Amino acid sequence: MTTYLVTGGAGFIGSNFIHYMFEKYGDSIRIINVDALTYAGNLENLKGVSGRANYSFVKADITDSDAINRIFDENDIDRVVHFAAESHVDRSIRNPGVFVQTNVLGTCVMLNAARSAWEKEDGSYKEGKKFLHVSTDEVYGSLSDPKDYFYETTPYDPHSPYSASKASSDLLVKAYMDTYGFPANITNCSNNYGPYQFPEKLIPLMINNALTGKKLPVYGDGKNVRDWLYVKDHCKGIDMVIEKGRPGETYNIGGHNEKQNIEIVNIIIDTLLEILPEGDERRKNVSKDLITYVEDRKGHDRRYAIAPDKIKKELSWEPETCFEDGIKLTIKWYLDNEEWFKNVTSGDYQKYYSKMYNV
Ligand code: NAD
Ligand code: TYD
Repeated sequence: MTTYLVTGGAGFIGSNFIHYMFEKYGDSIRIINVDALTYAGNLENLKGVSGRANYSFVKADITDSDAINRIFDENDIDRVVHFAAESHVDRSIRNPGVFVQTNVLGTCVMLNAARSAWEKEDGSYKEGKKFLHVSTDEVYGSLSDPKDYFYETTPYDPHSPYSASKASSDLLVKAYMDTYGFPANITNCSNNYGPYQFPEKLIPLMINNALTGKKLPVYGDGKNVRDWLYVKDHCKGIDMVIEKGRPGETYNIGGHNEKQNIEIVNIIIDTLLEILPEGDERRKNVSKDLITYVEDRKGHDRRYAIAPDKIKKELSWEPETCFEDGIKLTIKWYLDNEEWFKNVTSGDYQKYYSKMYNV
């Protein structure tokens, strides 16, 4: 039985990945989820799997090397899937230190623990071990020429403290591969959307605000471009890279779905009005009049766009959910899970929101 150690499995993509893996592999795999449960980690995301005999949860910080080494000592880990990170650009602009701590030092702790568990005396590695480092397209910086795309060969040029910390962690993984022959892959994916995303990120924040009649804060001119991928397609790509990716390689993941932020906000309003039945209380707040242009993000990257040619050619990965379907699935999920929204937006979220948006 293959044993996966998933870090950050209580967050957005990590929890979707755990659901995806159990749906695909059932009882033939075991997953240990290690998560510190920061503001972004939520065990409610894993309600459907928490009772499984082949799933366990360890509350630990990835910067705590004793706790991480203990997990490797007590379990024969075959795959590490490393999601745990501070993930929000706006928070990184306000408080960069924790991004360096978790994303850089935490990754170093994970690499050291896996290396010491997997390396044999002759410097080779035990059979079938793999470390998958989950990263972002933001490490490549910002595109200005509309014909340009991010390739695996594009030089790193991060601008925010978040992307700088992710770039640093990618370079550490590369250094372990080059120096120690460490069996790893890096994936650099574009913006994800789907169920369980914390409403500090564009799509769930706009859905939540529209439903509660709050302003929809669009940064700058609203024309910054992001390349959106349905989270399940990202999970599928990660699984394929773990299984078939050539050790030492980086794979970009993205579905060629570039949209300006203002287009996304308009699509969300249109879709809410299409889905919510006449007479539904929640419909009364939904309106494009809520759109409000606010001060731009500092150092705001203009455009991201992934060239997924390598993962398509080498691993036959293809996204399955087009944006039109994915955004409907996502909005329906949030409408059906009002309790989830209420729970994650109570308490500290209110403080974050009023500080961030000056309200
Ligand atoms: P998230 O913020 O939703 O989840 C992060 C998870 O990590 C949370 O469960 C949190 O509790 C946990 N965590 C944070 N600090 C920790 C620590 N010190 N020790 C242990 N656990 C800790 O993030 P996400 O959007 O799911 O992103 C997951 C990964 O994917 C990140 O590495 C991110 O850089 C990368 N990524 C995200 C996107 C995106 O669009 N969200 C796109 C590409 C890559
Ligand atoms: P976000 O979801 O934070 O992802 P990232 O910054 O990692 O790409 O933001 C996506 C885009 O939406 C980005 O260009 C910033 C913009 N944005 C807004 O215009 N308003 C908001 O309230 C938020 C959170 C983001």
